[in-house]
Amino acid sequence: MQSVSRGWDEPPPPGLQTRLLEEASPLPLVAEVPGDRSVDALVDLLRGHRPFVETALLRHGAILFRGSEVREPADVERVAQALTDDLKTDYLGTSPRDALTEHVFNASELPAFYPIPQHLEMSFVKVPPSRLLFSCLVAPTSEGGETPLCDFRAVYRDLDPAVRSRFVERGVRNVRNYSGPSSPKRASPWQLKPWHELFGTSDRMRVEEICRANDFEFEWLPEGRLRLVNVQPAVRPHPVTSEPVWFNHSQVFHLSQAEGEYRRIARRQDRLRMLGLVLVARTLARAQRLMVPEDDLAMNCTYGDGSVIPLEDIEVVRDAIWKNLRIYRWQRGDVVWLDNRAISHGRMPYRGPRRVVVAWA
Ligand SMILES: [Fe+2]
Repeated sequence: MQSVSRGWDEPPPPGLQTRLLEEASPLPLVAEVPGDRSVDALVDLLRGHRPFVETALLRHGAILFRGSEVREPADVERVAQALTDDLKTDYLGTSPRDALTEHVFNASELPAFYPIPQHLEMSFVKVPPSRLLFSCLVAPTSEGGETPLCDFRAVYRDLDPAVRSRFVERGVRNVRNYSGPSSPKRASPWQLKPWHELFGTSDRMRVEEICRANDFEFEWLPEGRLRLVNVQPAVRPHPVTSEPVWFNHSQVFHLSQAEGEYRRIARRQDRLRMLGLVLVARTLARAQRLMVPEDDLAMNCTYGDGSVIPLEDIEVVRDAIWKNLRIYRWQRGDVVWLDNRAISHGRMPYRGPRRVVVAWA
């Protein structure tokens, strides 16, 4: 294996070999410690060469550490600690997540058949994580289950200018509705986890504090439910390079989410099953639109001024994302370290075993 030798790339530190996963794309840089596969070796190397890792991250957007014997959440915690002193535990995203060590969580408890569209983690909070780490402890054995990456700077550049200016001028308004600890239990296919799990507390004062800190408007509803509304800019500048980054969850929160994803996934995986799921997703979305008032939907988004984001606009966003998607198969022990201020992630549907964990800073 050859190390990357590009004019703009510094040589890797001794003991670390780097290469591109595919010649045509800088995302992600693959890094291996070929002489010693132990977690100790990887941890020592990363600890001693953080500036190299940070520079490479800025240039490539994500680094895939491959070939080390990362097997347990405790191994992942050690690798994450070697990369940063700033690991976090607060999570205001929409996926159900279980803690495995102090800073390592199951990436998502959402059912395996469900596609997770590309997003920058917590793009709707005031200060989203700057770094994310994913690690694969059990690799999928059949097709699917990848964690695709996408450069949201490229998405911004590739978007149709008319659609992009509508988003830039109006921003995006997100609405989320949560049940609470006292809400009646209802089986609903589109319900989010309850608010006391989201905020990690059932203390309403504390919840309100967190909402204010993130510019979430909050509204306590009958039956102990909570509605959160926030308007965010569609684009943020990258904090280091100032490049514009497509920075919102619009195609995730839009009602067409599942249908739009399944239709594209059907082009590469399990075609008949995915097309069946397109029909199911379309029917469920129509039922929601008919039965649930707009602001009562579990998740919904409009333009920032409250006007509907037409399906055609959101499909343009999806096309730009899928054009730039980097999909590669997981190997057991892989660790991906990415710049959450530019690089999005998602999850392809899968069947069978798969275990991917996450940490963030
Ligand atoms: Fe995520």
